[in-house]
Amino acid sequence: MVPSRSLSYLLALPALAFFSLSASALPHPRTASSPATLKLAVRINSYGIKNIAAADRARIQARQANGGSSSISVTNNVMLYTADIGVGSPPTYYTVLVDTGSSNTWIEAKAYEKTATSHDTGGIFSVAYGSGDVVGEEYTDTVTLNSDLVIDNQSIGVASGSLGMEGLDGILGLGPADLTQGTVSNTYEVATVTDNLYKQGRISSEVLGVFFAPASSDDSSGELTFGSYDASKITGDVSYVPITSTSPANGYWGINQSISYGSTLILDETAGIVDTGTTLIYIASDAFDKYQSATGGTFDEATDLLKISSDQYDQLSSLYFTIGGVAYELTPNAQIWPRSLNSAIGGTSDGIYLIVSSTGSSSGSGNDFTNGYCFLERFYSVFDTTNSQVGFATTEYTYATTN
Ligand SMILES: *[C@@H]1O[C@H](CO)[C@@H](O)[C@H](O)[C@H]1NC(C)=O
Ligand SMILES: *[C@@H]1O[C@H](CO)[C@@H](O)[C@H](O)[C@H]1NC(C)=O
Repeated sequence: MVPSRSLSYLLALPALAFFSLSASALPHPRTASSPATLKLAVRINSYGIKNIAAADRARIQARQANGGSSSISVTNNVMLYTADIGVGSPPTYYTVLVDTGSSNTWIEAKAYEKTATSHDTGGIFSVAYGSGDVVGEEYTDTVTLNSDLVIDNQSIGVASGSLGMEGLDGILGLGPADLTQGTVSNTYEVATVTDNLYKQGRISSEVLGVFFAPASSDDSSGELTFGSYDASKITGDVSYVPITSTSPANGYWGINQSISYGSTLILDETAGIVDTGTTLIYIASDAFDKYQSATGGTFDEATDLLKISSDQYDQLSSLYFTIGGVAYELTPNAQIWPRSLNSAIGGTSDGIYLIVSSTGSSSGSGNDFTNGYCFLERFYSVFDTTNSQVGFATTEYTYATTN
């Protein structure tokens, strides 16, 4: 008999802690979290980064150039979401980047503690990231997300390379399994952590719910929910749209969307992606030019973002992202970078910077926008593999003034 229990689990994000990676002593938690939760942390990565827009754009262009293969640059982001996952039995805990834009899960060989459950498959894994390839041996091992979410025989890469970031041991890949095709020598495709949670009966549908509170909000917390979404975090219904049929966006969590600034359409309905691993919101260059002239923003060399005056801020209209017939409103306050974090992007403390940037390509690329963290902190997102759809819902932060 199957014990009666909820088949969805929350992974709680504690209060945000911002660390500059130039700090010499990064806290590096390696202890198990309390039962049923996997603690996540967010870092502001400001070390060695000239600007976030260029880093995000490199990730977008690598995707376009590779026609949907898993080529991304995950380490150059400003907002880094990390989780501690256990590998082996008994588990050793590793701090990994949480990424819906890639799908292989791997840890660095130098950190990997082998146990009786660690099985070398003989395969070689190799994933191309914008910043270089990660190569290593493919293992299967027991992966512990929390005490209720234990996965047997999860395929994990054991990388001879590294992310080059102190306190980060690897990546938890939460993207579609398609992105693993061709990454492991002795297999066509690798089952992701979410795939195996479902196949092994730990969750009843293959769904991932993502909640991020705005980084600068009072209760800056968030969580991942496997198997469902967390109804307590949303203020309306979840509206779903099918994964887009347009390539290369269809290889990711890709959707169709149009964008209006106030009542002016600036991007006709087109395909793009939703990505927790991208910080800002990116739109095709022709749409961006319309946005720039409508807002009056001027290009700021220091941050590579549009900068506006406080008068222009007062005049700002909302941006409306229409997805599956539902308009998601990004308020003026949601369109600006949190001023308390201006120094992390190289801005001046009183500057007002817009978080909408250009993909660097004109529309029609098959990947004409990326709804990154700055969108996802305003709308709860649901990544549904079982039904090939993505959903969004409003939260208490959708219309909040936090920036
Ligand atoms: C895991 O793999 C081992 C060895 O390959 C096998 O004996 C075991 O049955 C597998 N377990 C599951 C749950 O698939
Ligand atoms: C998305 O847009 C493309 C053309 O831009 C269209 O062919 C397709 O039917 C739309 N819907 C989906 C779910 O892909």
